[in-house]
Amino acid sequence: AGSQGPTSASQGVMATQFFTYKGIPFPCLEYSPETLDYVDRQFQVQDDDIFNITYPKSGTNWMLEILSLIRCDGDPSWVRSVLNLRRAPWIETNRGLQNALRYPPPRLLSSHLPIQLFPRSFQSSQAKVIYTLRSPKDVLVSLYHFSQALHLYKDPGPMDAFLQDFLSGNLHYGSWFDHVAGWLGLRGQKNFFYITYEELQQDLQGSVVRICHFLGKKLSEEQISSVVKNASFQTMRENQMSNGSQIPDEYMDHQKGQFLRKGVSGDWKNLLSEEQSHRITTMSCERLHGLGIDFPWD
Ligand code: A3P
Repeated sequence: AGSQGPTSASQGVMATQFFTYKGIPFPCLEYSPETLDYVDRQFQVQDDDIFNITYPKSGTNWMLEILSLIRCDGDPSWVRSVLNLRRAPWIETNRGLQNALRYPPPRLLSSHLPIQLFPRSFQSSQAKVIYTLRSPKDVLVSLYHFSQALHLYKDPGPMDAFLQDFLSGNLHYGSWFDHVAGWLGLRGQKNFFYITYEELQQDLQGSVVRICHFLGKKLSEEQISSVVKNASFQTMRENQMSNGSQIPDEYMDHQKGQFLRKGVSGDWKNLLSEEQSHRITTMSCERLHGLGIDFPWD
């Protein structure tokens, strides 16, 4: 299956072991080459599936909440009673795949997979993909903090070493730059919609309207307002089904970090030096500017 046995990463203290699948590192805990291979080759995408896709720390759980609320016409009962992981399982984890296979249609599913590892049956389906992306600098900083708490990910070590891993793609799920370039290659396809974390922040109401339009879902103004209210940072932070507090200690040290940490744009300015920030900008220019997209963080 193009995989290697477990290895230790070179930098930092390893909280877990990793294996490499088709050139991309994955944690041994909760992931396996067999599951990734099944997802790639055998997973049957259904025409009425809706996929919430992101690179980690780009607003996945925020979008998951928005999509859950839209599904229920703004009624918050579902998001208050069912864990987010259950509402939209991650197809590539061992447990998430089992939940996805048992999910009665229409399914709401999540994934951080780069496009080349995504189920091939997607290509011939009409399933809808919502891809959320975020400024790479804020992704890096959010991931840096989160990796200190989540045992699934490797300890980030010093920022310079972590930045090097980020730039070279030596991280779980691989390179942010490859991820974004790969998925945005679907632009123009009618079953593909993308939006940025920054747009969600600037205009959540308008973003919800656009998402509803893409999904073919008609909500009243009142229902849209309820989606906006219940997907706010503060409301999500108080919701035990959405704030990560239910993640078992085996997976996360809750003293060291929070799922809903700050929820702002531009926090990278507090952590990255000018030189570190410049290295990301340079790589973005090299890798993404050819796509012809105006990124709001540029
Ligand atoms: P920070 O670490 O910068 O605070 P993911 O869900 O992909 O893991 O992304 C997590 C990031 O999204 C965290 O960023 C988290 O705070 C932010 N986030 C989650 N819900 C949010 C919301 N309702 N509003 C704004 N940011 C949110």
